[in-house]
Amino acid sequence: MEPPMDVLYAIYDGIPRQGPGSNAATRQAWSLLPDVPPSPGILDIGCGSGIQTLELARLSGGRIIALDNHQPYLDALQQRAASEQLAAHIETLNCSMDAMEFAPGSFDIIWSEGAIYIIGFERGLSVCQPLLKPGGFLVVSHITWLTADRSPELAQFWHDEGVTICTAAENVQRIEQAGYHCLAHFPLPQAAWWDEFYHLIEQKLPALRQTYRDDPERLAVVHNQQHEIDLYRMYADQYGYVFYVMRFIGDG
Ligand SMILES: C[S@@+](CC[C@H](N)C(=O)[O-])C[C@H]1O[C@@H](n2cnc3c(N)ncnc32)[C@H](O)[C@@H]1O
Repeated sequence: MEPPMDVLYAIYDGIPRQGPGSNAATRQAWSLLPDVPPSPGILDIGCGSGIQTLELARLSGGRIIALDNHQPYLDALQQRAASEQLAAHIETLNCSMDAMEFAPGSFDIIWSEGAIYIIGFERGLSVCQPLLKPGGFLVVSHITWLTADRSPELAQFWHDEGVTICTAAENVQRIEQAGYHCLAHFPLPQAAWWDEFYHLIEQKLPALRQTYRDDPERLAVVHNQQHEIDLYRMYADQYGYVFYVMRFIGDG
């Protein structure tokens, strides 16, 4: 059963990002793209409140469509883009990543930090491909096993969340089979989970436990979030987010 969305938004609202990441990691991934055209057309899928969208606007000087299905995140991004004089570079779009209707070959670069798991890694690869120009880039960060050693409790947790986790080697194979070349991949440092994400969520959870104390369904979601963080505290060496920098080979 899907958790009630309002409690998830209560957990993730008001923090700088809605998933693990850092501007340094965004810049590192960007630096691995060769031959980026001037003013590239970029699609940022599952942008959230857009911390990486703003960084991409600073890095690229291009035109970015920032896509998410939660309007308050898009509103927050638009406000910040305006206050940082980046509004001319960013257009927000309230749309599901499962129902994107862009013309084929619309983008030089498709970017997605911590969001492609929503439709699944492989489906994400295939949905993005026709939207890219031949030779265009797809850059995603995605949860990945870092070692062969896996706690059964951890594996069970992510299985129950409906998230399939593979190793980087397995993902590179899926990337190449899907018609991309994997130019590079690198893991996010553990600080990218804590500094702008888990530490800030953890500070919000006591108040949310109070808010939902008489609502077992929502309280269970808050407890589950704490459990997710506790698992990362215990097993951060076993899994992490990995950035995959890919190039669409094209038909020719
Ligand atoms: C884990 S967050 C990552 C957000 C942002 N990229 C970041 O790293 O801070 C996933 C984002 O995907 C959005 N999302 C969830 N389902 C979606 C869908 N079907 N289509 C588009 N966006 C979706 C959520 O609203 C959320 O902003």
